[in-house]
Amino acid sequence: MNEAEDYAYIELNDIWKIYKNEDDVIHALSRINCSFKECSFNIIVGPSGCGKSTLIRILGLIETPSLGNVMINCENTSDLPQKIRNSIIRDEIGMVFQSSNLIQTLNAIENLTLPMLSSDNEKAKDLLNKVGFNDYNKYPNEMSIQEEQRVCIARAMVNNHSIILLDEPTGALHSKESFEIMELLLELNRSEGLTIILTTNNKKLSQFDCNMFEMIDGTILNRTEHTS
Ligand SMILES: Nc1ncnc2c1ncn2[C@@H]1O[C@H](COP(=O)(O)OP(=O)(O)OP(=O)(O)O)[C@@H](O)[C@H]1O
Ligand SMILES: [Mg+2]
Repeated sequence: MNEAEDYAYIELNDIWKIYKNEDDVIHALSRINCSFKECSFNIIVGPSGCGKSTLIRILGLIETPSLGNVMINCENTSDLPQKIRNSIIRDEIGMVFQSSNLIQTLNAIENLTLPMLSSDNEKAKDLLNKVGFNDYNKYPNEMSIQEEQRVCIARAMVNNHSIILLDEPTGALHSKESFEIMELLLELNRSEGLTIILTTNNKKLSQFDCNMFEMIDGTILNRTEHTS
């Protein structure tokens, strides 16, 4: 294996997340060691409560682990001041959640231009075209759930983010729609060189060309690497 093939773009080193409530200690994540290569397509599959959302929040640097390090591009993000972490979030990481969090009072284009560093309608249209959505002036309450997810995926790319994290993006969709969203994500992974990490509890999604991580009780049990 040469150096480029070996290069880990994102690395989780011995990650633990422990929540302490009044009389309860919850080990949401324990002993997570895994890495994701640049431009790879990765699916984390596991049942409800196994820690998928916690892991996505930690990968997205919006939550800190109790123990362990998140390395991005060989940089240990735990050692960085919050200001630098914020700039990594802004410049590198786009996030998509199960239920759309589009702003209801803004149409599709406006939902995309709002988080842009400088508002650019043409870029917003270009991104919406890339996700197969061209009803630019539609408001979220006029969109189907799948259309909302398409707009959320476009919004996750507005600042030329290279990493897209998606927490159960197909959780509210029927199988046909889920597969269409997966095809779209694979296409974006290939054409835009995005590093994609998504969670699901649907084992059927393992049929897509991806690296598969199986999660249970807060830890990753198995990893199956996509080889072709
Ligand atoms: N802020 C929190 N405080 C306390 N416990 C939490 C918190 N967030 C998550 N947990 C607990 O951590 C465990 C993992 O939760 P998490 O939401 O990450 O799982 P999940 O795999 O995303 O589940 P689901 O498929 O239902 O979304 C669960 O036991 C959950 O109750
Ligand atoms: Mg979850």
